[in-house]
Amino acid sequence: AYVVVDNCIMCKYTDCVEVCPVDCFYEGENMLVINPDECIDCGVCEPECPAEAIKPDTEPDLEKWLALNAEYAKVWPNVTIKRDAMPQAKEYDGREGKLEAFFS
Ligand code: SF4
Ligand code: F3S
Repeated sequence: AYVVVDNCIMCKYTDCVEVCPVDCFYEGENMLVINPDECIDCGVCEPECPAEAIKPDTEPDLEKWLALNAEYAKVWPNVTIKRDAMPQAKEYDGREGKLEAFFS
């Protein structure tokens, strides 16, 4: 499966949701996640993310993010239509420590 990682937080560009053929993105207040059970590994979302916040779970050290995506995909609502990015998306792009500071 593909997973959304920390740089989505406070950016939430949502370009990813429009290209997913199985509509497996779910939306929290300031981050999206992918439901790893629904993702078919097509890979089309990865290059669409301006924040480079989507990775295949075959990359090392993504266990924490895979677990977070699986957990929140169960409780957050499905999202399939692109919205405006968060107001300070550019400012927060690339910032460290976003999970600890802003995740919700
Ligand atoms: Fe959707 Fe494909 Fe991205 Fe998985 S890899 S989330 S199926 S677009
Ligand atoms: Fe987040 Fe990138 Fe999608 S910032 S909302 S994973 S386009």
